[in-house]
Amino acid sequence: MPEPLLDVRALDAFYGDFQALFGVSLRVRPGEVVAVIGANGAGKSTLLKCIAGVTASRRDAIVFDGEPTGDEPAHAVVARGIALVPEGRRLFPSLSVEENLLIGGQLGRAGPWSLPRIYELFPALAERRHVPSTSLSGGEQQMVALGRALMSNPKLLLCDEISLGLAPIVVREVYARLPSIVAEGSSLVIVEQDIVQALKAANQVYCLQEGRIALAGAAATLTREAISAAYFGA
Ligand SMILES: Nc1ncnc2c1ncn2[C@@H]1O[C@H](COP(=O)(O)OP(=O)(O)OP(=O)(O)O)[C@@H](O)[C@H]1O
Ligand SMILES: [Mg+2]
Repeated sequence: MPEPLLDVRALDAFYGDFQALFGVSLRVRPGEVVAVIGANGAGKSTLLKCIAGVTASRRDAIVFDGEPTGDEPAHAVVARGIALVPEGRRLFPSLSVEENLLIGGQLGRAGPWSLPRIYELFPALAERRHVPSTSLSGGEQQMVALGRALMSNPKLLLCDEISLGLAPIVVREVYARLPSIVAEGSSLVIVEQDIVQALKAANQVYCLQEGRIALAGAAATLTREAISAAYFGA
């Protein structure tokens, strides 16, 4: 077994007095796709925000590439090679597709991803590079959000509900691009409420329930019954 790229160790997270995560542990090995599933409010986005440095946590609760990063701010974490595709995409509405993509490259590392490579991955964006991001379809906006994150050349890409609000055919289109991203050397953490899609794409699955890991295992070995029980707390 290779050393984990990401090692989350007994992570707690708080919003003021409210505790959102309780002792969450999770590992991502190089080249792996890890899915985090769970119902509304389970703590999925909080977990990704902690890993990305958007929400501060205990220094040694997050170890990336052998270094503790839990207390580092988001820009430092991006420079280390972690990129977040946030829930709701959060594009800059007054900027064009291309300007949004270029912003993603500003804090990142050198590597395989560049504007031409993003347009190769998502040809629909090449045609629309100069239009404001707000005039795109939901699927195209999600492609921009993914492309913007890739422009930082992450070793680890965190995707928060990339299928939310998209038509099934568009979800399949976006998911079909993930293997190319892994092939370029990024490991992935995908947060999903669409369990079927998550299981198809992932090697490892973690199920969060009310801030705790209720189930973890290889995607191929988990039964539907075990997953529903962990997901719904049945
Ligand atoms: N900024 C915040 N301030 C206070 N509480 C918050 C904040 N963000 C999230 N929470 C709470 O923390 C818990 C976990 O929220 P989180 O957004 O991580 O869940 P989630 O699994 O991503 O849910 P969803 O599927 O709805 O996106 C919830 O109870 C939520 O209400
Ligand atoms: Mg969320």
